[in-house]
Amino acid sequence: MTESVASQPLTPEAAVSEPVAFPQDRTCPYHPPKSYEPLREARPLSRVQLFDGRSVWVVTGQGTARDLLIDPRLSTDRENEAFPAPTERFAKVRNRRLALLGVDDPLHNKQRRMLIPSFSVKRIAALRPRIQETVDGLLDAMAAQGSPAELVGAFALPVPSMVICALLGVPYADHEFFEERSRRLLRGPRAEDIERAQDELDAYFYALIERKQREPGDGLLDELIHRQLSEGALDREELVSLATILLVAGHETTANMISLGTFTLLQHPERLAELRAEQTLMPAAVEELLRFLSIADGLLRVAKEDIDVAGSTIRADDGVIFSTSLINRDGTAYEAPEELDFHRADRHHIAFGFGIHQCLGQNLARAEIDIALRTLFARMPELRLAVPAREIPFKPGDTIQGMLELPVVW
Ligand code: HEM
Repeated sequence: MTESVASQPLTPEAAVSEPVAFPQDRTCPYHPPKSYEPLREARPLSRVQLFDGRSVWVVTGQGTARDLLIDPRLSTDRENEAFPAPTERFAKVRNRRLALLGVDDPLHNKQRRMLIPSFSVKRIAALRPRIQETVDGLLDAMAAQGSPAELVGAFALPVPSMVICALLGVPYADHEFFEERSRRLLRGPRAEDIERAQDELDAYFYALIERKQREPGDGLLDELIHRQLSEGALDREELVSLATILLVAGHETTANMISLGTFTLLQHPERLAELRAEQTLMPAAVEELLRFLSIADGLLRVAKEDIDVAGSTIRADDGVIFSTSLINRDGTAYEAPEELDFHRADRHHIAFGFGIHQCLGQNLARAEIDIALRTLFARMPELRLAVPAREIPFKPGDTIQGMLELPVVW
């Protein structure tokens, strides 16, 4: 961060008298922190203060978020010195390359086009039997082991982990290795932990790619090696970076939706009863849980030019953060936004982002959450928390939201 960026004056219209510290931990795992209240009141745009005292914009209104997320003057290029760092550990590793999410067009577009067919509605629909088989197998194992169980380790994490492995052609036998590195990549706690995790994942993928070149398999990585790497459209470093983001984003996110989704349904027994009575409600319930939980809470951008928006001016080099939890509870876009309601007419949440970086894996995530929750509650109708809700540890505010552990009985 440079001095000039940190000391830019606030634009008066949007300034809240004291910039709110950001990000903060949730006090309830499914509600945004109460201390974000001034941000809600200052919708659609206000200022927050990061750990290092830097003041950046936070977007909290639906319409403004949509306008800005498709604005090419906002960039995700982490090599830009002014790119906002929400934590100290992020600041230290910000410059490490990140395919897709860390690059702007035209490079972004080139990378994304190679992957789109593998995540289309049709391809994911064809994957549903395999997801169901994975879910059934894990629940069989849980049932055989007997109550109680720790649901994150026994179910919420292995479901997406097994599925993304199969899709990419990564051996699931290596899951402890990459799950541990993914955890460190997202939560550190120290910057050195993140750097080492990244180096170890890089080395893993270089070796895997080499092996696949000798003995091809039938996953997406094999396809990319065969089509793009061999023809020179991708270099090895870029492929390793793509493999990392797909593997990490492919299991760390959905696992949290399954664990936090289960917890939230158990805390809302009327909603759960409604779902049990009417299974066709499940797709709407998944959308509503995505909105309500907003697990990827804090999308990061930097302005490349001045942008006039909602009566304020975002200056070039200003950091901009999208609080998905507040945007998805914007009272001008949703009736009774604090309620978990499976019958909403408006389903235009931005839990998967919006614009060119909108989640590539959203069809896959929806299918996994749908099948996992549907089957879990059908097979274990007596499922309940094994300890009081307040004793269950959940993830801190500066990472993807979810449960660290979820002890259950049935
Ligand atoms: C419920 C689970 C998930 C949630 C809530 C989620 C959320 C998001 C969000 C909010 C973004 C946009 C970030 C930004 O604009 O700054 C994103 C991007 C992305 N997600 Fe997901 N995601 C989920 C599951 C997945 C899965 C299963 C994959 C599988 C590979 C995946 C792969 C990606 C990739 C590759 C990007 C970057 C896309 C780009 O830059 O073009 N995500 N995700």
